[in-house]
Amino acid sequence: MDGSIGIFDSGYGGLTVLKSIQDLMPTYNCIYLGDNARAPYGERSFEVINQYTLEAVEFLFSKNCPLIILACNTSSAKALRNIQQNILPSNYPNKKVLGVIRPTTEEVGNISISGYIGIMGTAGTVVSNSYPLEIAKFSPNVSVIQQSCPMWVPLVENNTFMEEGGQYYIQKYVDELLEKEPRIDTIVLACTHYPILKHSIEQFLPKGVKLFDQGDLVALKLNDYLKRHSKIDNLISKNGKVEILTSESSEKFDDHLNLFYEANHQSKKVQIS
Ligand code: DGL
Repeated sequence: MDGSIGIFDSGYGGLTVLKSIQDLMPTYNCIYLGDNARAPYGERSFEVINQYTLEAVEFLFSKNCPLIILACNTSSAKALRNIQQNILPSNYPNKKVLGVIRPTTEEVGNISISGYIGIMGTAGTVVSNSYPLEIAKFSPNVSVIQQSCPMWVPLVENNTFMEEGGQYYIQKYVDELLEKEPRIDTIVLACTHYPILKHSIEQFLPKGVKLFDQGDLVALKLNDYLKRHSKIDNLISKNGKVEILTSESSEKFDDHLNLFYEANHQSKKVQIS
């Protein structure tokens, strides 16, 4: 069986990361898994996110993925450490699972000029405090202001963000964040679903506020990681094959694929656990 990079998200959001990985590393085989049947994860408890993420990771391991990117901030915030520290060493010592928070927090402090950074994410990501804690390690002088955006993932999953109600919620969370701290000049889209809303978000931002979207950075760091870890790199086939799997109906997923990824790609429904 061909080895592939596994890319996991609760739903469609991780497609933004898959796209960046493919743009940078077009020959690498990838398997994308969206747990759409159980999305969104953002409001779920720590235990449930841990269990669902672990099930998805083990599923991708069974599909011969030696390395998995949790292309989901919520899973990266809540489940990654447990998987890396308690599951991999005893059960899968030769496999790797990486998240999206670390690559972002290493870099974002260098981008802000004002020293005030906004984090927009799911309730799970915000409550975990992962972003402020991690950014403080790399950029201790930067202030981090968080905003949870509970309606944004459902707006993407249901493709209703262009409707009036959708636009209302996009503006609402942007305004709430900037009211907390008007000096913010950099906003991290700390949820892989949010780049799909990027153009809408930009309309509501004052001039000079930059949006930081993780996809390209995660791809760059992954490429660099594989250059430094040839043992894992050698296990990944380079035939440019991409497989897209979902735990929900593939017809529904394919409608979104046309919108968020690329037309003419077909997903396959799978049972994760
Ligand atoms: N794309 C996920 C993230 O980056 C969305 C989480 C959810 O399902 O609520 O956090």
